[in-house]
Amino acid sequence: MKKSNIFKASAIVAIAIFSACGGGEQPATTTATTEEAPVSMVAPTELTKEQKIEQGKAVYEKVCQACHQADGKGVPGAFPPLAESDYLAADLTKSIHGVVHGLSGEITVNGVKFNSAMPKSDLSDEEIANVFTYVLNNFSNKGGEVSAADVAATR
Ligand code: HEC
Repeated sequence: MKKSNIFKASAIVAIAIFSACGGGEQPATTTATTEEAPVSMVAPTELTKEQKIEQGKAVYEKVCQACHQADGKGVPGAFPPLAESDYLAADLTKSIHGVVHGLSGEITVNGVKFNSAMPKSDLSDEEIANVFTYVLNNFSNKGGEVSAADVAATR
């Protein structure tokens, strides 16, 4: 082999080694923050007002709607309205008591007399609290929130 050829061959090998080792990539810099949502102080069993309304709607549709109707307007001569009910607005505790224990005898709702009977409910305190929270925040009523403790107090 000629000297010049040996030189050429080693030059090619050197170039090959150099490119194989060439420029490793920089690892991507991590910029992720460790920020977390604040820990809630609310007990896990305590529902928010929005959750009560949502769950109360289901109770309403299952239980109350049959008499008080989907629009809360009741049935004239038979079932009084919960929509814009002045009876409900005037005395929430008495209204809750009526659902817990049943209600009969003459009552006047929005100027109209009813003399019928609502059977006592077997719903839990929480279900009744949720359904009243739903009713108070729907059917053009004035809003509000009822807790299971409020219901328990009428038992
Ligand atoms: C079987 C029919 C029936 C069901 C079911 C029923 N109610 Fe009633 N409700 C009545 C009747 C009848 C009255 C009026 C009783 C009277 O004349 O003394 C009444 C009265 C009321 C009143 C007071 C008057 C008014 O209109 O504001 C409220 C509040 C009420 N019901 C809420 C509820 C809720 C909440 C539910 C579901 C958990 C429910 N009712 C389920 C028949 C029913």
